[in-house]
Amino acid sequence: MDAVIKCIECSSEYPISYTGITCSCGGLLQVEFREYPEVSWELFRSRPFGVWRYRELIPVPRDAEIVTMREGGTPLIRFSRIKEVLGVRESYVKFEGANPTGSFKDRGMTVGVTMAKYLGAKAVACASTGNTSSSMAAYASRAGLKPYVFLPKGKVAKGKLMQAVLHGATLIMVNGSFDDALSAVMQASRSFGVYVLNSLNPWRIEGQKTLAYEIADEVGVPDWVVLPVGNGGNISALWKGFKELKKVGLVDELPRLAGIQASGAAPLAHAFKEGLSKPRFVEHPETVATAIRIGRPVNWPRALRAARESRGVITSVTDEEILEAQRMLGRLEGVGVEPASAASLAGLRKLLDEGIIRPDEKVVIVATGHALKDPDIAVYHQADTVELRGDVNELSEVFWR
Ligand code: F0G
Repeated sequence: MDAVIKCIECSSEYPISYTGITCSCGGLLQVEFREYPEVSWELFRSRPFGVWRYRELIPVPRDAEIVTMREGGTPLIRFSRIKEVLGVRESYVKFEGANPTGSFKDRGMTVGVTMAKYLGAKAVACASTGNTSSSMAAYASRAGLKPYVFLPKGKVAKGKLMQAVLHGATLIMVNGSFDDALSAVMQASRSFGVYVLNSLNPWRIEGQKTLAYEIADEVGVPDWVVLPVGNGGNISALWKGFKELKKVGLVDELPRLAGIQASGAAPLAHAFKEGLSKPRFVEHPETVATAIRIGRPVNWPRALRAARESRGVITSVTDEEILEAQRMLGRLEGVGVEPASAASLAGLRKLLDEGIIRPDEKVVIVATGHALKDPDIAVYHQADTVELRGDVNELSEVFWR
């Protein structure tokens, strides 16, 4: 397979078998084809829907043993009732909560863990706000690798923590934010040689870019894709995916990307608004959407580039707007998402209000993680509860009120 790993800053090239995570200059690495393979929708559609449908565009070595749980192939659900509320013509939610461990991270992990195993790693590690740790622990277990997860103490949602425990990860609790946990895991990697599977790992991006392939496969290229942004890996992957589809001739257009951050953790939205070339990092990020509670996003160069090149935007929404959007998805569409994922609907509403997205444009919002990941959030959504004390007939006023 004719591909290399290339630094996005200094353009140094490494072979596909490179075991490092970043360039020796400190820049971010990216997998790049030297020559694109010949592919067609026909070929892809002869295989099951999911990440590995697009095998030729994921340049893992041919002899690698693929670690998979049939990730991807998630439902793209057309809005029915939200459409009326927003007044939009054609909009969809890509429900990534339907992945094996309940988030989009599985797309990156099937490729990342496949490569970890291929490269001879015995142990893998990540820093995480939760979902990466759940996914990495599950895929590592399947591959027989030992998972170590670095977590911001007290800030990881219960469902995610439970999954990391269930899949046998060693939990390393960090007193600080996700950003501190990421510095710690990078140091641990240098000291102990464990293979890091955060989204700065270029193989994670190779898996996550299939989100773009699946959207285009089902509904063509939308005018906009709206998605939450934390560390900036997913927006970078999505953009890489769409650009590759165009390079291999499978699409003619590119979408505009809208990245949504929580207002208490919005360094990229700020940089975008102020037209800065570099974000000013947020030292104490805070938001109810703990998955995107990130102040120093490592993928910032490629995330900003993705938004700018696509003529898109990165903006922010408040916690109240996020929770309201979570309720709307749950109660108007039956789609249960965790708060960070609801940021995309909150962002769509804001961008429609601001006239940046027009109601006649085709929009896909990405719901990155499942509602069950964060059960404690239910306290914010008032339950409609009635206690049955005696006869069921006493409920008449409950049924008809
Ligand atoms: N949505 C969810 C549910 C997430 O878990 C994350 C990131 C994002 C959106 C943002 O994606 O970082 O690629 O911009 N979660 C990471 C984790 C940080 O550790 O699970 P991003």
